[in-house]
Amino acid sequence: MSQDATSLAYLIASVLFILSLKGLSSPETARQGNMLGMLGMAIAVATTLMAPHVVGYGPIAAMIVLGGVIGAVVARRIPMTSMPELVAAMHSLVGLAAVLIAVAAFLSPTEYGIAGADGRIGVGSLVEMVIGAFVGAITFTGSVIAFGKLKGTFGSAPVVFRGQHLVNLTMAMAMVAVSVHFCVTQSFASYLVVIGIALLLGVLLIVPIGGADMPVIVSMLNSYSGWAAAGIGFTLGNHLLIVVGALVGSSGAILSYIMCRAMNRSIWNVLFGGFGTETAESPQQAAAGKGAKSGSPEDAAFLMKNGSSVIIVPGYGMAVGRAQHAVKEMAELLSEAGVSVRFAIHPVAGRMPGHMNVLLAEAEVPYDQVFELEEINREFKDCDVALVIGANDVVNPIARSDPGSPIYGMPILDVDKAKTVMVVKRSLAPGYAGIDNPLFYADNTLMLFGDAKEIAERIVQSL
Ligand code: TAP
Repeated sequence: MSQDATSLAYLIASVLFILSLKGLSSPETARQGNMLGMLGMAIAVATTLMAPHVVGYGPIAAMIVLGGVIGAVVARRIPMTSMPELVAAMHSLVGLAAVLIAVAAFLSPTEYGIAGADGRIGVGSLVEMVIGAFVGAITFTGSVIAFGKLKGTFGSAPVVFRGQHLVNLTMAMAMVAVSVHFCVTQSFASYLVVIGIALLLGVLLIVPIGGADMPVIVSMLNSYSGWAAAGIGFTLGNHLLIVVGALVGSSGAILSYIMCRAMNRSIWNVLFGGFGTETAESPQQAAAGKGAKSGSPEDAAFLMKNGSSVIIVPGYGMAVGRAQHAVKEMAELLSEAGVSVRFAIHPVAGRMPGHMNVLLAEAEVPYDQVFELEEINREFKDCDVALVIGANDVVNPIARSDPGSPIYGMPILDVDKAKTVMVVKRSLAPGYAGIDNPLFYADNTLMLFGDAKEIAERIVQSL
């Protein structure tokens, strides 16, 4: 393939990736966005395979088949609720790839086309390699820790110790010094020290992050993995990889910013603050003496059918219970009975950005019934019933009232302002942030204890 044809194909792929991101910004166009992204990636891979410096297809084909099979099996097996872990695991692989490619380029500069006439690597390439390996190494270990925290292997509580910031700062300064030494001397040992410090920094930067701030971290690591990919692009001299890496890097950074705003957090506070360090009162202690009222699915059906407006708030529990289809059926029956039914989505409900939108779209809930927090929050005070299905942190009024709470300041869905609130969950246990929810004990709240799907199905039967 000629150089011009390659450049044109890469340009087309880049445009498709940009259109893909645009498509992914709304549930209506997300499928189309995915298709455009896949088409762009197919063009990118095919064009790269036809490049003149690709000398043998055997090992590449073997790796594509191996990776493809592993990817397909994992994608089929992974439950929707474990998606954030999978995403974190994928990010770690991108980071590791960046480190390995940077090391390979250092060890074989001629093959990578970065050796000068004297066989030495130019300073520009050395700086690129340091940055690529640094970002890649932080992404790798940071994502491994995030994976463990999300999976529950390490526990989601923040790990903080005295002088943590000082240790991080000292390591960062040491890394800059060793990097300069590496660029001057081209010593492989210095390069390994740089990578070692970056690997350790990845761990130290993520361990102090509390459970409530994990969504922002997953999206930050997404951004880092993009920059790591861009770093690989520089090392390999591949323009498309630089463009794609920069798109992923910047879109991840924008998403982190949006999520921080949604949670009323400053990005610096999330990155260096160690939120969620409060030890919350146990729900059992809190429940004792406060007394939550509980009702049956039949009560819920009666109250909703006799109201004129219902707002349904789905959360992580709806995903765990796979209740979305039963919930959709319930909404349809209520609409047929003349009740206005709307869905309210909190930006961090569930365990990944857009989690609830994906589930509701899968159940074919009409998009015009689905509203974002800022569109619907004022409507709760005028609605008869707010039905919370497996959501907890995103409706916790303590975020408005208790400055000591780890979720203080996060905008919540104001379900407590509805005439009646009904909460479907299995117990009074706390949600992801690990804190009690006074909503459960409020005068206008009725708890519907049970699995989200079972309760929704029983409401459907009663309706
Ligand atoms: P959570 O606060 O995690 O609460 C979910 C509730 O669902 C739990 O209290 C649980 O109570 C209930 N539940 C679990 N399985 C259930 C089932 N089968 N049937 C009925 N209920 C069930 O969820 P949320 O309100 O959606 O808030 C999301 C939280 O996750 C936030 O703290 C957010 O910061 C964090 N987070 C979000 C993301 C993204 S990007 N969305 C990523 C990582 C973390 P029971 O055990 O009593 O049933």
